[in-house]
Amino acid sequence: MKHEFAPASSDSHLNHVGSYRRRLPVSLDRMYENALDWQHLPHLHSSSFESINCESAGGWGWRATVTSGKGEALIVSELELCLDRDARRWITRNLSGPNAGVEIWTHVFVVADRVLDIVVDFFVPNVPVEAREKVGRAYARAYEVLYDEDVDMMTERQKQLDLRLDGVDESEVLGLSSQTLASLPAKVAMSGRSFVVDKLGTAESDDGAWVVYPAQCPHQLGPLDEMSMDRGTVRCPWHGYVFDVRTGECVSGSHCRLGRVPRVLESEGRVELRWL
Ligand code: FES
Ligand SMILES: [Fe+2]
Repeated sequence: MKHEFAPASSDSHLNHVGSYRRRLPVSLDRMYENALDWQHLPHLHSSSFESINCESAGGWGWRATVTSGKGEALIVSELELCLDRDARRWITRNLSGPNAGVEIWTHVFVVADRVLDIVVDFFVPNVPVEAREKVGRAYARAYEVLYDEDVDMMTERQKQLDLRLDGVDESEVLGLSSQTLASLPAKVAMSGRSFVVDKLGTAESDDGAWVVYPAQCPHQLGPLDEMSMDRGTVRCPWHGYVFDVRTGECVSGSHCRLGRVPRVLESEGRVELRWL
């Protein structure tokens, strides 16, 4: 039986074409954070979005121009997402573009501390009755892909938040085995944190120098270790921030920087990480 959510602009010819439901292993905080996080669209969801240009954003939601597709098939749309915490829902509206008028309502139901049910309703203008089910299924398929990607991000971020320590044990020394050294880049654990150890390629100006950088991004703890280093830089897969691993600086325009890392010391055939 269909439930009776009414679209916001009931004077338009919006038709409820379908719904998408899913149980998610995440907290309400992670879910709201994800809804407000406009930056991740062209990075985490790169198969659905090409670029985003935010016009306005805050605790209320965001409004942005997004593109999808390429070349002649490029689609430009203005999207607005409004979060209503009291109603545990957010509404995404297509303000302009080929899907202008579409509204997507997402309701959240808290099942347990880190378990949510979401119900996403798709309202599309002027869809003939006989086409609604097909259009609804297409939206649901697209949302399945988006939520697959979002669940990975939300659960990994929660895991990293749970692991986070206030300080590091600076007395710890980590010897790198010949096996580790033979399979660079290597992810290592030290002082309760994870780091990537690598060497700059021979084309770099700092020819073959050691580099160590945190495995988690300083922005929202995205997995930098999943990405390959490219000419001394690494791009986070979640929001696309790029860091120079030699200096720790974000070179894509953000103010955050990589956290402190241990240094590689070589002596008498031993290679170790130490806090200096
Ligand atoms: S977590 Fe946002 S750019 Fe890395
Ligand atoms: Fe997302």
